[in-house]
Amino acid sequence: MASVMSMKASTVHPPKITTVKALVESSGSSSIPSFYNFTPYFRDEPIAGDAEDSVPIIDISLLVSGTPEEQSQIIHQLSKACSDWGCFMVINHDVTESLTKAMIASFQEFFDLPEEEKREYQGNHVMDPIRCGTGFNPSVDKANYWRDFLKCFAHPEFHTPNKPAAFSEIAREFSKKTREVVIILLKAISKSLGLEESYVEKAANFELGLQLLAANYYPACPEPEKAIGIPAHYDHGLLTTLVNNGVSGLQVKYKEKWYNVNIPANVLFVQVADHLEILSNGKYKSIAHRALVNNKATRMSIAIAHGPALDTVMRPAPELVDNESDQPAYVEMTYGKFLELQQTGRLSSKFRSDTEQSKAV
Ligand code: OGA
Ligand code: NI
Repeated sequence: MASVMSMKASTVHPPKITTVKALVESSGSSSIPSFYNFTPYFRDEPIAGDAEDSVPIIDISLLVSGTPEEQSQIIHQLSKACSDWGCFMVINHDVTESLTKAMIASFQEFFDLPEEEKREYQGNHVMDPIRCGTGFNPSVDKANYWRDFLKCFAHPEFHTPNKPAAFSEIAREFSKKTREVVIILLKAISKSLGLEESYVEKAANFELGLQLLAANYYPACPEPEKAIGIPAHYDHGLLTTLVNNGVSGLQVKYKEKWYNVNIPANVLFVQVADHLEILSNGKYKSIAHRALVNNKATRMSIAIAHGPALDTVMRPAPELVDNESDQPAYVEMTYGKFLELQQTGRLSSKFRSDTEQSKAV
């Protein structure tokens, strides 16, 4: 009986629109449904100018093949970048512009697939290795976000949709090359904390670390001041790398002000994430950031969360804990547990002292 009723219902109602892309393409409207109205979010907060002149720039080629003096200079710059801004632009790295362009084009092809084909990949749980969808989590959030996404586990196991045809090969290369850059950075960051160079990799069991490849698709929005791509949040891994398609929208919070970040085509933008904050016992803080939308062009970004192994218990490096006051600054838990709590909005505020909720990549 129930099945007859639901069959009837589905013949009466039009198919449910599941992505922002489909909504935009089907409506052509100059206003957005109220479902996407996000409480006015930037009127009450100071907006500063573009940040690219000030965000630190790290020449990674000098870490790899520079003189010992140049290497220690870059390590010093990294230490400043991580403790002051919490983000930096990496230049002269090995993720070529053509590889990045191919990756963005492949994601575009994926988002261009018919809705019902994309729906095959609509995982529901944070641990599903391939997950495509829209917004973030309607059960936790009041408004939906003006973005569609595809998230795939790229490491330790590699999972991608098998369409479009070239997607998997390009994603494998892009994830591998990006991971190599991150490994170089993690060694230098360990040294910048006064620890031995493999410290962070060992503590996070990075060999089995979770690498989450996430593409964000933000269609042009007729009322960009009412909607949000992704609200303010912190990323959960050790470091996040980010590239985009030349359309701006990312903002980072620095000294209580929001800055626009325009990411040049040959730059890998890197953000300090929660687990580097935990390991460094707060010496390096994860950076709050958000994505705005615009009414002119579709924006695409590819964020990769480079995190610890899921079953590894993460805690501050004992070398960095002040022995006088034996208050541990962060609660110990496995990365897997942290992810689960974070994605369901149950991460204790004890994790961090400020009030912004930690949300997902
Ligand atoms: C994310 C994120 C920002 C952007 O995916 O976690 O913060 O610029 N993206 O798309
Ligand atoms: Ni993020």
